Amino acid sequence: MKSNSIKVIAPATVSNVGPGFDIMGFAINTPVEEMTVRISDKPGIRILKISGDKSGLPFDIKKNTAAVAVTKMLASLKLKIGVEIEIRKMIISGSGLGSSAASAVAAPVALNELLDRPFTKQELMEFALEGEKVASGSIHADNVAPCLFGGFILIRGYKPMDIIPLSYPKKLFCTVLHPQFAIKTSDARKLIRKNYPLKEVVAQAGNAGGLIAGLLKSDYDLIRRSMNDLIAEPARAKLIPGFYKIKEAALNAGAVGCSISGSGPAVFAFCTSENDAEKIGRVMKKISSEFVKKNMIYISNINSTGPRVIG
Ligand code: HSE
Repeated sequence: MKSNSIKVIAPATVSNVGPGFDIMGFAINTPVEEMTVRISDKPGIRILKISGDKSGLPFDIKKNTAAVAVTKMLASLKLKIGVEIEIRKMIISGSGLGSSAASAVAAPVALNELLDRPFTKQELMEFALEGEKVASGSIHADNVAPCLFGGFILIRGYKPMDIIPLSYPKKLFCTVLHPQFAIKTSDARKLIRKNYPLKEVVAQAGNAGGLIAGLLKSDYDLIRRSMNDLIAEPARAKLIPGFYKIKEAALNAGAVGCSISGSGPAVFAFCTSENDAEKIGRVMKKISSEFVKKNMIYISNINSTGPRVIG
């Protein structure tokens, strides 16, 4: 162990990506989660500080995603050391941008570095997923996997976990609109039906396959045609005031697809250049402002690195 303290950042993520409910996600450069993890002489895991979030995130180590992930990691190593965690939330919880996943990823990544990497990234997934589960009430990897690995990720299957990094057009930009209110993933998941007619399942599979093919071939028109979601978007659109108007305005302004980021309220749009992303962001913000007072815009290309040590 070179040092007993480390600071890492972990990226925000857009999950579901239109037709990829629970199976697709990508990382973006901004916002990020910042976390400091320290090994201490006093045994036990402690959350010392959470700043930047007013939602009352838990300090209880059985409920905090970062602490749960670290607890699982230490149990797996059969290590009884002290770990102190300070979290600076810049990805607002309940935004739909993978806030809980970023905490669940940043903590085990940081501790893994401090312990001289006993685990591979693939192995860290298990701990991060346990952390994510306490926040969202279910095991879904479409935020955790892109946050941990960076890039654009397909979760081909869950049992066993089969993580497929996808290539994507290097000029693909993403505009994210974040209307400033919170949606709990566990609540938004209750809106998803348990069964779907065969016709819809076939259409969803066609669109998911089309999106992947479009990404691999850098075929923007195919991406645009494939960005149709029959599962999450129709069920959750009502949670986001003005959603269909925002989407229509983004598409009219040249977006290559637009949908809800994760369980919302953030809405993302694919764009083919940074200029377009900025222009489309202004349009989306203008419409959303008619319904919600405060709106943030993030412009980013796809983050290919995942978490980074910054101190
Ligand atoms: N796939 C998940 C959902 C992502 O839509 O419920 C939310 O974090």
